[in-house]
Amino acid sequence: MARMPIIAGNWKMNKTPGESVAFVRELTPKIADYGEVERIVAPTMLALSAVAAALRESPVQVAAQDAHWQVDGAYTSQVSAAMLTPFVDYVIIGHSECRAFLGETDENVNRKAKAILAEDLHPIIAVGESLAQYEADETLHVVRSQVIAALEGLSAGDMDRVVIAYEPIWAIGSGKSASGEVAEDIIRSAVRDTIAMLHGDDAAESVRIQYGGSVKPSNMEEFMSQPNIDGALVGGASLDVDDFAALVEIAARVKGS
Ligand code: 13P
Repeated sequence: MARMPIIAGNWKMNKTPGESVAFVRELTPKIADYGEVERIVAPTMLALSAVAAALRESPVQVAAQDAHWQVDGAYTSQVSAAMLTPFVDYVIIGHSECRAFLGETDENVNRKAKAILAEDLHPIIAVGESLAQYEADETLHVVRSQVIAALEGLSAGDMDRVVIAYEPIWAIGSGKSASGEVAEDIIRSAVRDTIAMLHGDDAAESVRIQYGGSVKPSNMEEFMSQPNIDGALVGGASLDVDDFAALVEIAARVKGS
């Protein structure tokens, strides 16, 4: 079964609620026709409610950038997966910026994945190695360990609801992306083959895997041409309506043919 391409724009700490709504109103008509691609925006928590309302009749879906694993409780500043259910379909977890700045751990990423699946939402689990790890040839080991830890205790049946985003940290916001071939190699051997080992070939074939890190219209085709890369998790370029629309168009053209 072919995997549906999936493009998600991670806006990080950008755009106010008003700017986010204006952006999706401009974006939606430009990407409405590409039903063969899943199209997702991930605004700040503060904008989720307004953006979800603006996209109610739209094919564009909404993601949160994080979620706590408990349903509620004394967790100052946090938002639970349960609280997000009226607004989002996807939740990004394990982003390297959360791992670096907020002390995100593999163990908590796993707790969050379980909580998100329990709410019938889809986790987008971000993994990836640092520049030092890349240069020390530790990429496969690091990414495999992150995947194994994130999926601990999940079932083979959960795999078609899980998305993995491979984002080499050195490629995020740096303008330097991995080559399509290098990304394909890592995604196949450290992500898809690891899931096959854990849950069998069918489950591994059903998981969608994105590449992230300086994806832009000029390199999108290179990534989308790779058989194991099913889409992109995009930062900077997703903040521009025309670039976002171009990424969706390229995914539809390359993956659709
Ligand atoms: P850039 O596309 O800006 O490199 O960011 C990638 C990213 O971190 C998406 O989650």
